[in-house]
Amino acid sequence: MARVFQVPAGSSRSGARRAAGTPAVPAPAPARGSGEQKAGIVAGYLAPHPPHLVYAENPPQNEPRSTGGWEVLRWGYEELRRRLRAHRPDVLVVHAPHWITMVGHHVNCVPNPRGISVEPIFPHLFRYHYDFRTDVDLAEAIVEEGERAGLVTSALREDGVRVDYATIGALHLANPEWDLPVVSLSANNNPYYYSDASLTEMETLGAATRRAIERTGRRAVLLGSNSLSHLHWDIEPELPEDMSAERPFNHAQYAGDMELLQTIREGPTSRLKDAVPKHIEATSSETKAGSLTWLLAAMGWPDIAGDVLAYGTVIATGNAVVEWVP
Ligand SMILES: [Fe+2]
Repeated sequence: MARVFQVPAGSSRSGARRAAGTPAVPAPAPARGSGEQKAGIVAGYLAPHPPHLVYAENPPQNEPRSTGGWEVLRWGYEELRRRLRAHRPDVLVVHAPHWITMVGHHVNCVPNPRGISVEPIFPHLFRYHYDFRTDVDLAEAIVEEGERAGLVTSALREDGVRVDYATIGALHLANPEWDLPVVSLSANNNPYYYSDASLTEMETLGAATRRAIERTGRRAVLLGSNSLSHLHWDIEPELPEDMSAERPFNHAQYAGDMELLQTIREGPTSRLKDAVPKHIEATSSETKAGSLTWLLAAMGWPDIAGDVLAYGTVIATGNAVVEWVP
């Protein structure tokens, strides 16, 4: 995948970039704001972002109003929120597939992103007013570690760039209080345009993310914002939250999701290195955008099972809320 966008670590190109301004790797910083608690990645969640789930909650930030819907998935997110709180993170780091960057991996380094995020296909469901803080030190550290690993990376510093709905959706669903700083990573979607596409590069990005978290001494929770099976209806009912119209696209899509979730529930995560590409092939899974692979690679493919908190369909796509605690 994307060989043209990944230069070998230590090449003249990356070396020149380092010489031009990237500082040497500093010693790990002590954990901040967490007392005796250990720094590092304290949990990772598969945290899908269907705008319908935010719409169904009627938060004050979202303009459209609903009568509910998709409750089982939303109950799963309620459990995620309880568990996330218990981990007492300093920061949420999210990788989401709809901040698409064609060249390289971008990290949002804007200190206070604010604006309105709109879902382009469902603007009648998601027009969300956001205003949050970025952990700029960690964001910049991820950029630096990505470069050191040979990835093409970029720091987004332009205030006012609209934050995509997948990033906002996952962050709202995981932490509707928005009282934790955030680091947001783009999806380098050039794999969609190359025949030799693979998820290898997400391994590198995940490892770079982990090094940056450890180096800055953060307690971080990671959110990989991907749906599973991804075929969906092209019409919706008169009432979008009419659950009598909600079901899997077909049996094969549902069965593919169940096979992947069974592997997740059994563990260890290393089995997913084969299972995820197989699932993508079978179900057009949104995990092709790499968020799940980034998440597991950042945690070092821990020898554990995932805890599936909920599964449900949204306009026929499969969605699971899953926790891994390394
Ligand atoms: Fe999506």
